[in-house]
Amino acid sequence: MSESIVEILGLRKVYAGKNPVTAVDGIDLHVPSGLIYGLLGPNGAGKTTTISIATTRAIPTAGSVKIAGIDVVAHPALARCVIGVVPQYNTLDRSCTAFENIYFHCRYFGMAKQVAAQRTAQLLEQFRLSDRAAAYPQALSGGLAQRLQIARAIAHHPKVLFLDEPSAGLDPQSRIAMWDAVQALRGEGITVVLTTHYMEEADAICDRVAIIDHGKILIEDSPAALKASVGGDIIYDLRMRGVRDSGLLEKELATIEGVTRVEVIEGGLRVLARVQDGLLAKVVTTANEYGLRDVTTIEPSLETVFIRLTGRDLRE
Ligand SMILES: Nc1ncnc2c1ncn2[C@@H]1O[C@H](COP(=O)(O)OP(=O)(O)O)[C@@H](O)[C@H]1O
Ligand SMILES: [Mg+2]
Repeated sequence: MSESIVEILGLRKVYAGKNPVTAVDGIDLHVPSGLIYGLLGPNGAGKTTTISIATTRAIPTAGSVKIAGIDVVAHPALARCVIGVVPQYNTLDRSCTAFENIYFHCRYFGMAKQVAAQRTAQLLEQFRLSDRAAAYPQALSGGLAQRLQIARAIAHHPKVLFLDEPSAGLDPQSRIAMWDAVQALRGEGITVVLTTHYMEEADAICDRVAIIDHGKILIEDSPAALKASVGGDIIYDLRMRGVRDSGLLEKELATIEGVTRVEVIEGGLRVLARVQDGLLAKVVTTANEYGLRDVTTIEPSLETVFIRLTGRDLRE
């Protein structure tokens, strides 16, 4: 088994108060080195709280987080040397230029002036920000500001980069540019842990995804394996005109080659299947005899996985 660079054990966080909130409710997580790892879940799932604890910004109620073997609660200063953080909200220094934002970060982490200047120039180049070196954060678009935050976060060569909702508020084009920038970090051996409530994002860039809800991890695997767990690579939702004999139809559909499962849904049936030639035609012909109203074709996504696990939609 490959080494886990992030080890979370029995993590809990209860926000005290008149109505205490259990934001993280017993999370165990092992992130293998070199991966892009996603925490996917709806708003309020506990993603930010988990990241805040892992990055020494919050203290857990119970449990532990180790990064590269360093206990973040016992040794926060040491831990900060091996982690980079891009929080959910822009934390660029508005009184400093793009260059200075990275440069002072390098200096803070102990680099000599010349080394810091070189590293800054190299990062501006790498993140295609060289022509904006003298710009102040408020003059940068959301996409450029986000790239600058990532560049700054990795300036001290951390082993793990934490990104909290990295594409929140970005337009689709900037989102894809950000994905490219994050994927390029693979080549530098940086492990990335990101949170997102966009299933497309988790699917597009993560090697592994933990689906989290109400402070608990529901399931954890590669996006492909998670989607395969749905039990078919195509789903047909059949809406029926007054279901006369859905039990019989259910049985008939189940005998069609490729069909892996048939379930009752509101107003009809759901057919899960392995794609093959002529499948849809057979399903429709069969269902027609029972009064088919219409068919919707769905490709399983991480959204489908979430709905199957919780009965709810990811986008609330
Ligand atoms: N500082 C806080 N004080 C009290 N409750 C909080 C605080 N921060 C977050 N919460 C609550 O904890 C739960 C998890 O929040 P959060 O970790 O921000 O989830 P996510 O990032 O997945 O949206 C939510 O119910 C939220 O309202
Ligand atoms: Mg959050």
